[in-house]
Amino acid sequence: MSDPALAAAASQIQDAKQGTIPRPTVRTFFDEATFTASHVVHDPATGDAAIIDSVLEYDAASGRTGHRSAQRIVDYVRAEGLHVQWQLETHAHADHLSAAPWLQQQLGGRLGIGAEIVRVQDVFGKIFNAGTEFARDGSQFDHLFRDGDHFAIGRIPTIALHVPGHTPADMAFVIGDAAFIGDTLFMPDYGTARADFPGGDARQLYRSIRRLLSLPDETRLFLCHDYKAPGRDHFAWETTIGAERQGNIHVHDGVAEDSFTAMRAARDATLSLPNLIMPSVQVNMRGGRLPAPESNGTRYIKIPIDTL
Ligand SMILES: [Fe+2]
Repeated sequence: MSDPALAAAASQIQDAKQGTIPRPTVRTFFDEATFTASHVVHDPATGDAAIIDSVLEYDAASGRTGHRSAQRIVDYVRAEGLHVQWQLETHAHADHLSAAPWLQQQLGGRLGIGAEIVRVQDVFGKIFNAGTEFARDGSQFDHLFRDGDHFAIGRIPTIALHVPGHTPADMAFVIGDAAFIGDTLFMPDYGTARADFPGGDARQLYRSIRRLLSLPDETRLFLCHDYKAPGRDHFAWETTIGAERQGNIHVHDGVAEDSFTAMRAARDATLSLPNLIMPSVQVNMRGGRLPAPESNGTRYIKIPIDTL
């Protein structure tokens, strides 16, 4: 394999299968308002943990935020006695606000995202006409991950993979034998993530997905969203590489790049923007922090008219 980061991830997954490295425990919290799966992953021997893609509630009509979903994570982490090392974002989400800064206050952990977040900050900094106080250098985060970066959750080796396409900054985190792949693949019966946001690219998404699909078949996959496919009456967020290769309706083995790209463009043209894209992007480009208060002490979300 002429892809050292992917080869390292594949051999790590084999090691976990053979029992030479531990397998992480994963507990998922699903937010039905935004169809988002937040994952708490930990080393069962040490209790060291990472929280991946948390959700801050936001009611668009009232402009009110809420911590009900994030509080469930706090309660779980405290009940299990876990030590949070990381708050990880697979990307800057456009459909929900991140609760990472609030969770950091409660539980600690370093806030990490892909290094290409600077491109997302540049694009959306312009769209929202953010002032010079909005740094576009990723400094709102504690760590910026690059493709192939190695780290660990407790004793469990972890590799970051850059999987752009949905956005330029998407990362997958391979923790032991479990891959947290953000918005790339969804459940096999639902397909793949859209690629039409500013900075998105369907061809790039296809290449990122094929890269993920070359991991071992038994790799456990944990997704960022589920919307229930037609005929399925329950939410699901865990599958395997083998199941995706065999049955993903958009990108199973044998689907070529050109036909995927044409399908994705046609489907994306029918999708409306996520309800919470305006508040989500403004907050998530700031590492999940709300815009600074104005002179009256109130924070505001901007809505650019006839822009997106
Ligand atoms: Fe997303």
